[in-house]
Amino acid sequence: MTTVAAKHILHSGIFHPLLREWQSPNVEITSKNLMYPIFVLDDADAKDPIASMPGIYRYGINSLKPMLEPLIAKGLQSVLLFGVPNHLAKDKVGTNADSSRNPVIQALKLLRVWFPNLLIACDVCLCPYTDHGHCGILRPNGHIDNEASIKRISEIAVKYAQAGAQMIAPSDMMDGRIGAIKKALEAANMSNQVAVLSYAVKFASGLYGPFRDASKSAPQFGDRKCYQLPPGSNGLATRAAARDIAEGADMLMVKPGLAYLDVVRHTKDTHPEYPLFVYQVSGEYAMLYHGAKNGAINLEIVLDEVLLSMRRAGADCIITYFTPLILDMLHPKSKY
Ligand code: PBG
Ligand code: ZN
Repeated sequence: MTTVAAKHILHSGIFHPLLREWQSPNVEITSKNLMYPIFVLDDADAKDPIASMPGIYRYGINSLKPMLEPLIAKGLQSVLLFGVPNHLAKDKVGTNADSSRNPVIQALKLLRVWFPNLLIACDVCLCPYTDHGHCGILRPNGHIDNEASIKRISEIAVKYAQAGAQMIAPSDMMDGRIGAIKKALEAANMSNQVAVLSYAVKFASGLYGPFRDASKSAPQFGDRKCYQLPPGSNGLATRAAARDIAEGADMLMVKPGLAYLDVVRHTKDTHPEYPLFVYQVSGEYAMLYHGAKNGAINLEIVLDEVLLSMRRAGADCIITYFTPLILDMLHPKSKY
């Protein structure tokens, strides 16, 4: 005689792999739930390892095709491009963010021809292209000139769209940028051909460190606390998402992921009509990578758990540097 009442026995629902899958029907991970961030360098033939992000590279436009072909064969559906200037000059207004020598603009034209079914999103920001490394244009006193910044950012967004970007993802966190980008796309007759994925809820996080090294975009003085959200700010997170929706965002993002899952859930519950993206950022990648490398955790098991936590919290799509590994995990030789 068992002492546990029948309806309190949970083991009866999970003793078989399929039974276990039925217990979590809405938190599957498929290739549709992944977007792969790619660093595109202005060195056409480069495949340049990034010390702060082992296993991740900066690719020149000529090395993109051999890298992407096998991933697309495994089901990769979308990418997020980041430009990295190595030779290109930096200045106060980020001239090379949208010059004809910009590596993202050059890559877009090729990628659209090589991979017609791949959905291509482009990060839009000034920080890799400004000499001060901030995400907007500065006044002489060092403060953000918001009007000048959103004007410049919307010019860049239009140039990327004209070069073939299907999604524009502004990560600068200037006020009013979504509205300005939408208006500029409309003036360029492109508003029905480009989606705007707003980095609506982006926190001023210590987890971006490896990325700033990767994209050579660290601020040369100060920090980003006057434009990115304070990590404890529930209220601003809610207001930022509502504002960007009011300005016309097609999709929302919360960033970083793991330390902000409560915000992910709240954003999804407040705006269930909008696809929600979560960015598993560079520091999250590095923590899992090094934790596994040092024997503390099993990478695949913990990664699967973390991805499920993001889906459970309400993420429709996860932007992750682990995408190649996850695609392999999705197609194991034998599942059980
Ligand atoms: C630039 C930008 C950053 C990230 C994406 N776009 C860094 C920052 O805002 O300082 C972070 C991505 C990552 O850490 O993986 N605006
Ligand atoms: Zn930036």
